[in-house]
Amino acid sequence: MSLLRSLRLCLVARAGTCPAGPLQLQSSQPRHTFHTGPRLASSASSKELLLKLRRKTGYSFVNCKKALEACSGDLKQAESWLHKQAQKEGWSRAAKLHGRKTKEGLIGLLQEGNTTVLVEVNCETDFVSRNIKFQQLVQQVALGTLLHCQNLKDQLSTYSKDRTDSFISLYAKGFLNSSELSELPAGPETEGSLKDQLALAIGKLGENMTLKRAAWVKVPAGFYVGSYVHGAMHSPSPHNLVLGKYGALVICETSERRANLEDLGRRLGQHVVGMAPLSVGSLDDEPGGEAETKMLSQPYLLDPSITLGQYVQPQGVSVVDFVRFECGEGEEAAEAE
Ligand SMILES: *[C@@H]1O[C@H](CO)[C@@H](O)[C@H](O)[C@H]1NC(C)=O
Ligand SMILES: *[C@@H]1O[C@H](CO)[C@@H](O)[C@H](O)[C@H]1NC(C)=O
Ligand SMILES: *[C@@H]1O[C@H](CO)[C@@H](O)[C@H](O)[C@H]1NC(C)=O
Repeated sequence: MSLLRSLRLCLVARAGTCPAGPLQLQSSQPRHTFHTGPRLASSASSKELLLKLRRKTGYSFVNCKKALEACSGDLKQAESWLHKQAQKEGWSRAAKLHGRKTKEGLIGLLQEGNTTVLVEVNCETDFVSRNIKFQQLVQQVALGTLLHCQNLKDQLSTYSKDRTDSFISLYAKGFLNSSELSELPAGPETEGSLKDQLALAIGKLGENMTLKRAAWVKVPAGFYVGSYVHGAMHSPSPHNLVLGKYGALVICETSERRANLEDLGRRLGQHVVGMAPLSVGSLDDEPGGEAETKMLSQPYLLDPSITLGQYVQPQGVSVVDFVRFECGEGEEAAEAE
């Protein structure tokens, strides 16, 4: 299995960290095909408006001119007019991409405070997944999911009684499917929903794209979310978004704040990416072989002579749950049918 080999190799090479792959950015100007309208009166102030609108939106002079004309020189209206046109164009373009499968793309991981989100956005080719505009879409989906999750307050936390009969809060975890993601607001600085951002990206990049899924986890004190992204490249975003082809979150419970928790969390995430467990299992289960699907009974990825359970137990950490995303999974199976 080449994924396993590369996980083990990069660990040997870098003692715990995979080198971030080179990030290739193409700057492709959006192609807009709106028609040119009649010329604006070329006074100094309209020129200034035009420059302002172009700086603000990045759309071509021709389209900015057309927008200002359509909106009688109102800058704000012109801006939203431009976005609407670009969306319309994106949707009509999307409708023309019949039967174009989206099995490439990126997994995005975003962690803020006690909230962690993992998202998958798909496109048709790996080439487009390396485009900065596609990566910005992944960022918007991750931010939108993070905000959604933070706005849930803590209603969704699960609470249970401990032995002393007082309530203790547990972690909260949720998933969003493609249609739920589409309806999420795009963020505080962007109007519209993620669906609109998807249309814009399709219009700009000319490929079919799908907001595939998202998972989020919120933990109280006493829990830690370990994370790992394979084939990671750091996006040029101001947020701590990490992008790659595989991603895993591992929810751990720990009695004390340990110094090496981050490193341990990453190793657990690597194990989940490489060994693809289906459930956590229990420390009492018998050790299993390579085909074992219960995480704690699987041979530990980085030392197959012990199980994962035997690796974590002495460290005072219990694994309680995990999430694993593999970019494009499910699509190949659907294609094979
Ligand atoms: C886009 O890709 C998705 C997922 O592969 C597919 O279900 C959908 O039909 C495609 N859209 C078009 C317009 O072909
Ligand atoms: C997505 O989730 C919602 C709410 O759980 C459900 O109603 C809907 O059918 C799901 N959509 C798809 C495409 O699975
Ligand atoms: C997460 O952190 C926020 C702010 O630090 C806190 O209000 C919230 O209760 C925490 N959530 C959980 C589930 O503990």
